[in-house]
Amino acid sequence: MTKKLQIALLGYGKMGKIIESVCLERGHEIACIIDNERDWTQKESELKNCDIAIDFSIPEMAFANMKRCFELKIPVVVGTTGWYNQKNEVTELCKKNDAALFHAPNFSLGMNIVFRLNRQLGKMMNGTSYRLSMNEIHHIHKLDAPSGTAIQLANDLVDSVDCLKKWEIDSEAATDTLPIIVSRVGEVNGTHEVIADSEEDIISLKHEAKSRRGFGLGAVLAAEFLYGKKGIYTMDDLLDQHY
Ligand SMILES: NC(=O)c1ccc[n+]([C@@H]2O[C@H](COP(=O)([O-])OP(=O)(O)OC[C@H]3O[C@@H](n4cnc5c(N)ncnc54)[C@H](O)[C@@H]3O)[C@@H](O)[C@H]2O)c1
Repeated sequence: MTKKLQIALLGYGKMGKIIESVCLERGHEIACIIDNERDWTQKESELKNCDIAIDFSIPEMAFANMKRCFELKIPVVVGTTGWYNQKNEVTELCKKNDAALFHAPNFSLGMNIVFRLNRQLGKMMNGTSYRLSMNEIHHIHKLDAPSGTAIQLANDLVDSVDCLKKWEIDSEAATDTLPIIVSRVGEVNGTHEVIADSEEDIISLKHEAKSRRGFGLGAVLAAEFLYGKKGIYTMDDLLDQHY
């Protein structure tokens, strides 16, 4: 049975609230909620008593929040995106403090299974005449395009398919370029599809998020995985346990 964890939520917005409900469903307790800079000074003693922190806050504060957790010796799961250009510095700090960090740009278990299948598909495309392309669809509020998830899928294909040198949005371009068709529609939670097209048939690898809950569940599973460990982990480490 999984140990009942005392959890600190860093960020209590859309994702923080979903994570709270997943934590409670899985028998954990929310021992501290930090949702702004003032909370960091007022709630430090509550935070110190927590087993683990889960950060879904804002990109500008992700680095500072991780640093605080490392210094307080609280293992931290980070879903907040937009800090990856500071990854080397974070790695150094985590090592220096003998701390524990689990981070992922996409915590959905299903999407991470698709990442693995996509890498496998990429390898199998070599020596065939399939032409690869990608579709990415998100809600109209999403500012970045393509999504971080689409970029990871595309980079993995560029790394594993010999004839691909780069990816481009909406490209009808040369055979060395992977085209990504990006659409922003209504309230779509996130759809990613990799298509391999030939004269004979079409292969489609598609992931469609039904809600944001999948990210929350993945983050709580990551917290259960990280508890009691030191070092830096990603969804690949979590999947390795099962596959
Ligand atoms: N990795 C994933 O699977 C995944 C999935 C969904 C969203 N995200 C990312 O998670 C982050 C949060 O997403 P959201 O939709 O919940 O955003 P949101 O805007 O609804 O919530 C962010 C919350 O962070 C709070 N906050 C601001 N400063 C803070 C600080 N210093 N410390 C703690 N909290 C602070 C805000 O008050 C707000 O309530 C974003 O970066 C988003 O891209 C990641």
